[in-house]
Amino acid sequence: MRKKNKRIILNNVTITDYAAEGKSLVRIDGKVIFVSGAIPGDTVDIQIGKSKKDWAEGRAINIVEPSTDRVVPFCKHFGTCGGCKWQMLPYHKQLQFKQQEAEQNLRRIGKTEIPDLLSIIGSEKTTAYRNKLEFTFSNKRFLTNEEIGSEESIAQQNALGYHAPRIFDKVIDIQECHLLNPVNNEIRNTIRDFAKEKGFTFYDIKEHTGWLRNIIIRYTSTGELMVNICMNHDEETDRILLLDYLLKKVPVISTLLYTINPKWNDTIYDLTPQVYFGKGYVTEKLGNLEFIISPKSFFQTNTKQAENLYAVAKDFAGLTGNEVVYDLYCGTGSIGIFVSDKAKKIIGVEVVEDAIEDAKKNAALNNIHHAHFFSGDVIKICTDDFFKINGKPDVVITDPPRAGMHEKLVIKLLEMETPKIVYVSCNTATQARDIALLSEKYTVEKVQPVDMFPHTHHIECVALLILKSNN
Ligand SMILES: C[S@@+](CC[C@H](N)C(=O)[O-])C[C@H]1O[C@@H](n2cnc3c(N)ncnc32)[C@H](O)[C@@H]1O
Repeated sequence: MRKKNKRIILNNVTITDYAAEGKSLVRIDGKVIFVSGAIPGDTVDIQIGKSKKDWAEGRAINIVEPSTDRVVPFCKHFGTCGGCKWQMLPYHKQLQFKQQEAEQNLRRIGKTEIPDLLSIIGSEKTTAYRNKLEFTFSNKRFLTNEEIGSEESIAQQNALGYHAPRIFDKVIDIQECHLLNPVNNEIRNTIRDFAKEKGFTFYDIKEHTGWLRNIIIRYTSTGELMVNICMNHDEETDRILLLDYLLKKVPVISTLLYTINPKWNDTIYDLTPQVYFGKGYVTEKLGNLEFIISPKSFFQTNTKQAENLYAVAKDFAGLTGNEVVYDLYCGTGSIGIFVSDKAKKIIGVEVVEDAIEDAKKNAALNNIHHAHFFSGDVIKICTDDFFKINGKPDVVITDPPRAGMHEKLVIKLLEMETPKIVYVSCNTATQARDIALLSEKYTVEKVQPVDMFPHTHHIECVALLILKSNN
């Protein structure tokens, strides 16, 4: 081990295994070193960051001998952009590691007996699989090591792209992104070039100054394209200039919105997007079902895999047509609507009001009259009275955000003793934590991981929980 500028560097270390969250690991003298930027089989030089008695974190700063598993990443931003950390891994290996992580999390944190996981369902599309992307404007462009020292590139500091990993105020100027149809590149690059040409100011996250903040692009499988440009304040003349120019340059945009966001944070959930052109929403199709998606509503970002995910949830729910099904954290009602042909009644609960409005419209659009949607926090809505009025659930399908279910909801579910819970999760660590609590009354019967996000370490996982007295 050599110390350089007080930094600890480990040379010529061969990585032995995959760890959680896209990292790999190696054990040295009984101490586990979690390494980012390397895969099992790589021999690398590691710069150590945080170091404790039993473990340390490090970053591969040089690949001495690449793993034979490595493939050439297809994106020119790979290595700088934090988006697709696993492009150097062939897809079948990514799936293998995801399966392993889901299994380990559920067994280690779940603290209950877990059956062997079903084999992960891979995504048919591994590029252009997303229907939504968000880019950020910044007046602090992230500079690569090669650029530092080159006066020409340092002079231009404005950027439009993704946040640089671990550096909150710097943005990588993205020229191409393969996660959504190439039209995303046309839109982003057109806006950036025009903004630079006209001298429009880019947002400064530290000072809360600058005009342009974010763009959100949604492109659905029906070919509809929504762009929402967020601005720090309104500059009417420049806004009209920019929006008209974009519509002229990218005529396939079906609806264009802008949102004035004077707040310090980027979230638009408490703001009102203004429709500049088109109908103000896009429609998506899952099988024969149609869904309206408004600018503030959540919708699964990999449409094709959403169909596979929902098919698993429907299969696990094992509906016969007589069941009252609760769809908790329902977003635009997509899971409830997807399973509704096999249920007596659907009750959906979701905190975002606009998403509930969409859910109601979606049910009507698909001629579904036995689905009812309620807006509010699940822990406030799901009271004894609510269940009394809407019917005792036969099946609960729950699909919380990454933080998992609120403990109060888990306690309520334990009290309710619903025969079946289908738990859809985008974070197996919090899913396992909730399953540990639910295991007081439930056994886990089946677990199906689904890959919604190729080239990232994220895993979606569906678990079927059965009430113990029902076994
Ligand atoms: C992972 S998404 C699932 C949405 C939907 N099931 C789907 O497949 O599209 C989680 C949803 O939970 C909602 N949500 C987050 N916290 C909530 C809460 N406390 N109460 C109700 N809904 C909440 C979010 O707005 C989001 O729509």
